[in-house]
Amino acid sequence: MTSTATGAEFAEYPTPRRDPFRLPDELRETSAPVSRVRLWDGSLVWLVTGYAQARSVLTDRRFSSDPRRPGFPMVARSYGAFRTGGELGFSQLDDPEHARQRRMLAGEFAASKGDAHRPVVQAVVDTCVDELLDSAQPADFVPAFSAPVPVMVLVRLLGVPYRDHAFFQSRTTVRFSRNSTAADLTQANHDMEDYLGRLVDLRLRDPGDDLFSRLVTEHVANGELSRAQAAAMGTLLLLTGHRSTTNIITLSVLTLLTHPSLRASLSTGDLTVEKVAEELLRFHTIGDAGLPRLATASVDIGGVSIRAGDGVVVSIVAANRDSRRFAAPDELDPTRDASRHLNFGAGVHHCLGQGLARLELHTVLETVVRRLPALRLAVDVGELSAQGDMSLHGLRSLPVRW
Ligand code: HEM
Repeated sequence: MTSTATGAEFAEYPTPRRDPFRLPDELRETSAPVSRVRLWDGSLVWLVTGYAQARSVLTDRRFSSDPRRPGFPMVARSYGAFRTGGELGFSQLDDPEHARQRRMLAGEFAASKGDAHRPVVQAVVDTCVDELLDSAQPADFVPAFSAPVPVMVLVRLLGVPYRDHAFFQSRTTVRFSRNSTAADLTQANHDMEDYLGRLVDLRLRDPGDDLFSRLVTEHVANGELSRAQAAAMGTLLLLTGHRSTTNIITLSVLTLLTHPSLRASLSTGDLTVEKVAEELLRFHTIGDAGLPRLATASVDIGGVSIRAGDGVVVSIVAANRDSRRFAAPDELDPTRDASRHLNFGAGVHHCLGQGLARLELHTVLETVVRRLPALRLAVDVGELSAQGDMSLHGLRSLPVRW
């Protein structure tokens, strides 16, 4: 990281990733776990890369997640779109309103729901394997498998018609692309809210046996949640619920293909999918842009005095490769205890869908090892590059044969 004595120069953040396995040099371990960086819009923020410091910020209520606050770090232009006045999803609200809305969904994502979701997830994964096996070789694993699995799971749980998936996937692409203009983002948000608003009306009239119908009949019908808030909640789930899962599935399957001993250990049962999945989640942390927060009070983090009004970005990617927490962090070691990684965040905003994401990853690993024993890369691994959009880590394409 560079900074002059006058403070005129700072490293730019984030920088694109090219290598699917290696972090950009700027995020590789530096001596300072908290440092000053410049965002794309020129603003200066604190970048937290140390594991302990990242956890401190994420679990401290004095750091706000509300992008409407002046000085909130716009890690991507897409955050600016929320200043246009639309209803925010609860991931961008602070308590108590965040907690009130999150509670309405808690039962749907409780650990006890895992057993109910398992057959749905297994059926979706099996369908995608069947279709892959029926297709021509080589095939691109991303559109053939990693993308449809989480989308099909999500639409079934939410009760969103699958025929509309191209619509909301295209809006999600705009939402996560760093090249989208403010106008694109405003339009994409508007389209999603409009679509979900109409779904609220439909489910009020004609409820089904799905998450969104239960939300609407239990909380919109009695006025606890407005139509716009329910639409924002649906938008949040559709936006957050598939792209990250697609990317972790792609990166995890790539890792199986490049680490034959890992695959063999899963196949013989020497390692469990649960154990391997946690290390894959640590190693391939998805949130490249980091988690943005605004300090609402003066707080000391890692010996740095952060003042009220300062923007902070927590790099969970760097924190999960901090050698003070994980020995030899750049090595994939499925025997380590990776369970306290930060891929799903921490504190009150920790990922609500992490149980579902884990279930999907476990099912994919087990099914790929069992049903696709000859799956292999159709190109040299050196030809693969990370998607490099500085928002979510992943691969655009994974050509395979089987
Ligand atoms: C591997 C896949 C996934 C990863 C890596 C991931 C990661 C994250 C992270 C890091 C956060 C915290 C954001 C913050 O603190 O600002 C988060 C929040 C959230 N995630 Fe996930 N997520 C994944 C899958 C899912 C799925 C499948 C769903 C739902 C179907 C979901 C729903 C949510 C929701 C609703 C929040 C907001 C929670 C809150 O603010 O209280 N996520 N996720």
